[in-house]
Amino acid sequence: MTFRRCATRAYVGIVALALGASASSASPSSAAADTVDVGVLQSLTGTMAISEVTVKNATLLAIDQINAKGGVLGKKIVPIVEDGASDPSMFAQKAQKLIHVITSCSAAPSCEPAPPLTNSPTRWRRCSASESLAVRDDREGDRGDAPGTCEKMKLGIIGAGAVGAAVAMAVCGRGHACQITLVDKNVARAKGVATDLRYGVPVSPLVDVEAGDYEALVGAELVIVTAGINEQAGGATDRSDPLGRLRLLDANVKVFEDVIPRVVAVAPDAPILVVTNPPEPLVDVARALARHERVLSTSTFLDTLRFRVHLGERFGVSPASVNAQVIGEHGTASVFLWSTAGIGGVRVLDAVRDRGIPVDDFRRSVEEDVRFANITIIEGIGASQYGIGIVTARLAEIIVRDERAIVPVGSYQARYGVTLSLPTVVGSSGAVEVLWPALSDDEQRALDATAARLKDVVKHYLPGGEQAVGAG
Ligand SMILES: NC(=O)c1ccc[n+]([C@@H]2O[C@H](COP(=O)([O-])OP(=O)(O)OC[C@H]3O[C@@H](n4cnc5c(N)ncnc54)[C@H](O)[C@@H]3O)[C@@H](O)[C@H]2O)c1
Repeated sequence: MTFRRCATRAYVGIVALALGASASSASPSSAAADTVDVGVLQSLTGTMAISEVTVKNATLLAIDQINAKGGVLGKKIVPIVEDGASDPSMFAQKAQKLIHVITSCSAAPSCEPAPPLTNSPTRWRRCSASESLAVRDDREGDRGDAPGTCEKMKLGIIGAGAVGAAVAMAVCGRGHACQITLVDKNVARAKGVATDLRYGVPVSPLVDVEAGDYEALVGAELVIVTAGINEQAGGATDRSDPLGRLRLLDANVKVFEDVIPRVVAVAPDAPILVVTNPPEPLVDVARALARHERVLSTSTFLDTLRFRVHLGERFGVSPASVNAQVIGEHGTASVFLWSTAGIGGVRVLDAVRDRGIPVDDFRRSVEEDVRFANITIIEGIGASQYGIGIVTARLAEIIVRDERAIVPVGSYQARYGVTLSLPTVVGSSGAVEVLWPALSDDEQRALDATAARLKDVVKHYLPGGEQAVGAG
């Protein structure tokens, strides 16, 4: 709903929305709730002006910023405080205050912390010219049902190859970062990606995208590592090779030995999110190199979504309505939780049987689609990148907003003495708590075998272990 022209009564409409009343149940005076007194809300700082105010989800204000010539600089989205919302003048005051904060931050190269407007866990800090305010979006489940918080987030991405660029692009689209710093040993590549993305920012949520060295990561709230050799370059595209992505471990441990200490030197508090393959062993390696525990990996978050997509496809339903998980490792030995997979409350395997489809064939074909999705993609475009870019951006959002969403990601499991991917509560420190899923006997055996294999492989790369010549 967009509010454009002057009508003081529109505040009543906004208030009704902010209180959770539906537009139709609001008072008669709010019937024209598609307008708002922009004059009251208007504020000028330098060349910045507020041009348009939108109410979204009853609790969000979206404000277009225009420059002196009327060009749109970007959109800021802020939560509307609810206390005092029953008083229209209070609402107007608070809106004014919010706009003052936004324009001050936008116009000045840096500005002092803005006072929180409520007792909410809003985290305001120093901000630069193009820092943006994050938005609580209206999606559900693992797509973003964050509590309404307001974030300013600086994020580092190491590796600006196919995956790093896709992650950066997806982060730009989600609008939860105010600064993205790309670091790559190929400096020209990082600069090229940052420059390219910057040209899209004027019509995207505001974000600074820059290429830099490790020093530029000071203050980062999260560092995502995508640097390293990929499946195509590392010879891991043979579907019949049981090692799969583990083939990349030897080469990528060397990359991590270079990258992780440099990250920790400049951003010691930032959680490290491992995307590079193979992610689970590289979490163990990164933990040892970083000497801290805030290391996690995207791991089977992506496989889980692939599983849901292929099940949804088979049943002709939206993957959003499929409840299914892949755990263990992002690799050839990932474990598909068929025993609990469901569609709209019906067990997937029951639905398969009901349709007279041979269960084993069905399972095999879905698992193959998921397990080798990366190779299928690589055969088409040379690198699997866009899906992982979107997934990583979502995970970054979960972390910096401290959402405590539950998603299958990789983290060290003391029970097994190795990193595994399991349903995990994810918050600002990374993996907060694992929720051990109920497993069938087969699934438990498969998970145990995956853990044993990973432990055997990774021990060669950890302090005290024998140095391997190759993962194989
Ligand atoms: N976890 C997943 O689900 C998933 C999905 C797709 C790809 N991947 C993995 O992501 C990694 C990157 O894949 P890609 O396709 O982007 O590869 P790429 O070759 O396109 O990019 C890798 C980048 O890393 C940089 N790099 C290498 N060593 C570095 C170092 N020491 N310091 C800084 N930068 C360094 C390279 O210069 C290059 O730009 C691979 O390991 C790939 O297998 C993981």
